[in-house]
This record gives sequence, C-alpha cells and structure tokens, in this order.
Amino acid sequence: MKQITLDYQPIEWLGDRVKFLDQTRLPDDEMYIETKDYLEIVAAIKELKVRGAPLIGVAGAYGMALASLHIYVKGRAELLRRLKDVADNIGNARPTARNLMWAVERMLRVAVDGKTIENIRQALVAEATAIHEQEAGATYKMAENGAEFVNSGMNILTHCNTGPLAATGLGTALGVIINASRQGKKIHVYADETRPLLQGARLTAWELNKVGVPATLITDSTAGYLMQQGKVDAVLVGADRISANGDTANKIGTYTLAVLARENSVPFYVVAPSSTFDLSIADGSQITIELRNPNEVTRFGGISIAPEGTDALSPAFDITPAKYITAFVTERGIIRQPLTENLLTML
Ligand code: MRU
Repeated sequence: MKQITLDYQPIEWLGDRVKFLDQTRLPDDEMYIETKDYLEIVAAIKELKVRGAPLIGVAGAYGMALASLHIYVKGRAELLRRLKDVADNIGNARPTARNLMWAVERMLRVAVDGKTIENIRQALVAEATAIHEQEAGATYKMAENGAEFVNSGMNILTHCNTGPLAATGLGTALGVIINASRQGKKIHVYADETRPLLQGARLTAWELNKVGVPATLITDSTAGYLMQQGKVDAVLVGADRISANGDTANKIGTYTLAVLARENSVPFYVVAPSSTFDLSIADGSQITIELRNPNEVTRFGGISIAPEGTDALSPAFDITPAKYITAFVTERGIIRQPLTENLLTML
C-alpha cells in the first residue's frame, strides 16, 4: 500500500537524539521536544506526552538507545548493568500496554550480544530504528487486512485515539478507517470524546480532520443511544494488551462499548499489531490496570470540576472479554472466533 504522507510525526530519531510531539498540547499547539536524556522519555510516557501502545513501545526502544549513547560507563559490563536498570525504569513507566515491555526486552536481548561498548551502542540504535519501521509497517498491513470490514456508507464508532499519533504509520483502528477512506469508501466516524483525558476529542478529531475523514464527536455515554437507534454499523478500537484467550485491555470504556455492541448486534473489531499480544498470560484477569491520578477526574485544564476533597477513581483501561470481540485485525491477518484457538495458530 502507498505510504500516506502526514505533516506531523509523533516520534523521530535524529542520529543522537529523539524528537517527539507533545500530545498533551494538542490540538492547540503542535509542539515538538528534542532530547538526549532517556529520563525525559520516561517522563513523557508517564505524562502521556507520548502515548498509545505501539508508540510507547517505539519511544521505549529509542529511550534505551539514548541511554546507551549518553550514559557514561567505564566498560561493557557496567553498560549492560546500567541498561538493565534503564529497561526496568522505562518498562514500568506504564504497566498495561504490552508493547512497552516487549520493546525494551527486545532491546536488552540485542545489547547482551554486543561485544564492545561501541557494538552495543550501534546495535541498539539499529534495533530501535528497526522496531519503529516494523511497527509503522504493521499499521499499513493492518489497514489492508481490516478493509474487508469497512464498506461505503458505514458509520463507524471508535474510542480513544488510535491514529498515527498512537502507533506511528497509519495507526491501528484509525488506520483501517483512514485507508478505507483513501480507497474511496464513503465513511463517517463517531468519535467518543474519551473521558477523562479526552484523547478522542483532542487527538482523534484532530487527526481525522487532517486526513479529511468526516467525523462527529460524541460524549462517551452517547454511544449506546446511537447504537440503539441503528446509527452505528461497526465499532473499531485498538488494544493495549491481549491475553492468550483474547481478553483485551484497552482505554477505559471499551468494555462498555463491547457490551452495548453485542446487545445491539453491532460487530466489534479490535485492531492491534502482534506486539500487543501477550501469550504468556492466560486471560485478562492477569493484566495490570494502570491507575491514574484522581486529579485527572476531579480537575480539567487546571480547573476544579468537583468539590475540593472529592474522592475519585481513574483506571486508565478496562478488560473486554474475548466473547464480545467479533475479530482481531493484525498485521499477520484476521483472527476470528473462536479467538483462543485461532489466535494461537496465527501468532
Ligand atoms: O492512555 P492512552 O492514551 O495511551 O491510551 C491509548 C489507548 O487506549 C489506545 O486505544 C491503545 O493504545 C491502542 S491503539 C494505539
């Protein structure tokens, strides 16, 4: 498939430093940050300046490459020891997305094979760049594979942000949508605003506007009403971690959508690269759900929206049981029900 040229890049490697788009400033400011300090990458991941499961994997890999280049060490053994700590630090910045630990584990395996400090540095830069290219390439394959589920005239509902900002390349669920639109299919998107941090309103609406796909922003709680009215033909979402039986962690509210979709006979597709699957865990109960600062619920844009001292709870993700998922779209192909058997065969 022809690459789509965008006038923004969520992350870039500039030889000895990383340049990333600060997503917390969107849609008002398109502000890029350049850094040689891996700790700034860790902070950016925690603060959601860089976010979305595949993108934090790529950022984590570049963080390891930065650390290898810029941490002063006396010898190979010391470098490997320091890199192990760096990997733990980066890998634990956000606990739910599999892609982050997947990327740093891959980087560590490469580091161990390096015979000298210089070998290790070069190999880590090459590996991080390869992870970036592979993850971007996977989005194009997912977009092609998912095309069969998107027909002209469809209204598609999506949640959170799954575009190029979240995954490089074309994105995951949004990549399927963008590709279908490029194929000339007339589609319209309902974008959930995605409380509490409004990735749908701030980022999905911004990206769909950039690529010219017609979209309507809705509050999260409008989704059920629209489905009941027959106004949603399919739900497409991304994923942060998928266990061996197909249970799927994704942005909080995804489970609600999946149940509503089943109730209203709307197909529910999850679009995710193989780096998001975690076959080492049997089911979704073993996925750690990140708890965010309650301030993200009680305050908005620096303004308090609840009485002082209000208790709040902010899980960033929820688990959708595999039974609600019509199919997975991966770069290797489509995985249909029964998901558990078919997933193990494909991956
Ligand atoms: O907290 P975020 O903004 O990183 O959450 C992102 C999502 O939940 C996406 O749906 C997910 O990462 C998969 S698509 C890239």
